Amino acid sequence: MRVIVTGGSGFIGSALCRHLVRERGASVLNIDALTYAAAPGTLADIEARPEYRFAKGDIRDAAAMMRLVADFKPTAICNVAAESHVDRSISGPKAFLETNITGVFAMLEAARSYWDGLSEPARSAFRFVQVSTDEVFGTAAAGTRFTEETPYDPSSPYSASKAAGDHLVRAWGRTYGLPVVLTNCSNNYGPYQFPEKFIPLALLSALHAGEIPVYGDGQNVRDWLFVDDHARGIADAMAKGVPGESYLFGGNAERRNIEVAHAICDALDAVHRPNEPRRNLIRHVTDRPGHDRRYAVDFSKAERELGWTPSVSFEDGLARTIAWYSENAWWWQPLQTRYDGRRIGLLKTS
Ligand code: NAD
Ligand code: DAU
Repeated sequence: MRVIVTGGSGFIGSALCRHLVRERGASVLNIDALTYAAAPGTLADIEARPEYRFAKGDIRDAAAMMRLVADFKPTAICNVAAESHVDRSISGPKAFLETNITGVFAMLEAARSYWDGLSEPARSAFRFVQVSTDEVFGTAAAGTRFTEETPYDPSSPYSASKAAGDHLVRAWGRTYGLPVVLTNCSNNYGPYQFPEKFIPLALLSALHAGEIPVYGDGQNVRDWLFVDDHARGIADAMAKGVPGESYLFGGNAERRNIEVAHAICDALDAVHRPNEPRRNLIRHVTDRPGHDRRYAVDFSKAERELGWTPSVSFEDGLARTIAWYSENAWWWQPLQTRYDGRRIGLLKTS
């Protein structure tokens, strides 16, 4: 197995590189532009292994992607690279359209040009895996869950750009026959997540007695999946997914945001309780514009067809995440020069 992972220096991409190298015996080429979201040291634990290689490259650069794919001769490409933070997409949507749409186009063309030149059986065995999100479906009404059949209905510039990228991927499958597989996953959490996302942001604030911003009434629901379970799911979709199909992954862990904030505060208080309970650090702040109320994922197709199921409970995963951030300040401390924790994504009128 020779796998190109784009965005392999980010949160999910790095978990995927680790999983492929350690658990699947794959040779991996990580292509990453090293944006603000790629933290130094994230791949320190596999970087020296002979099965792992890195190329600095931008997925929008069609000529460079053609060259890298042709040189590496992959059996699969997992396109994980993206601009990924909803609040940033509200403040500056352009980069999202460029990477999440134009970048997907460039990767598809690089894959197609290489795949066209393959002969059987390599041609049939090849896979282009597009790593997408449950956010493309918009809000899930009470009592319903997203399935692979749910129509796309994105709310933010981020999710609209991911939806557009997914449409391109499907079209390349139907029109050119490129063996594409899509995955749509719920919210991930775990080690190495950039501290602009809710769980690491709340966790680091709670650790240092900073304010914990909860958007709106805190009743928005997300379904949380531990990142290593997602990485395994992507690898399963690559190995067993049927071309043209998509697979949803979720954690069976729907939580209201305020419940997540409480869980983080209580877990830290249980280790060391300051004068006041950490719940007192929680502040309800202006809501996110276009904020989806609820995400909920039915992942029974992945269970049935890929044999995938989440293995880490939310309670266990959160405890592991809290322990990791508490013990690995070397990783997150330098990131504070890239993001100082200030609110992003408010409209001037908010
Ligand atoms: P991340 O922001 O942590 O990492 C993104 C990586 O992509 C970074 O290493 C960055 O340098 C790289 N990158 C960005 N633009 C690039 C470009 N033009 N060319 C090459 N590399 C580029 O993101 P993440 O949270 O790991 O998300 C990865 C993927 O998973 C995204 O496609 C996202 O839509 C999807 N996803 C994320 C979640 C989640 O909860 N984080 C859930 C479901 C799906
Ligand atoms: O559902 C999958 C998606 O999950 C991925 O596609 C995205 O890449 C990923 O960023 C994530 O999107 P969310 O917007 O759900 O994640 P975020 O961590 O930004 O926010 C989680 C919830 O917490 C959301 O309802 C907004 C809220 N929130 C977020 C922040 C940063 C707060 O209440 N306070 C905050 O400070």
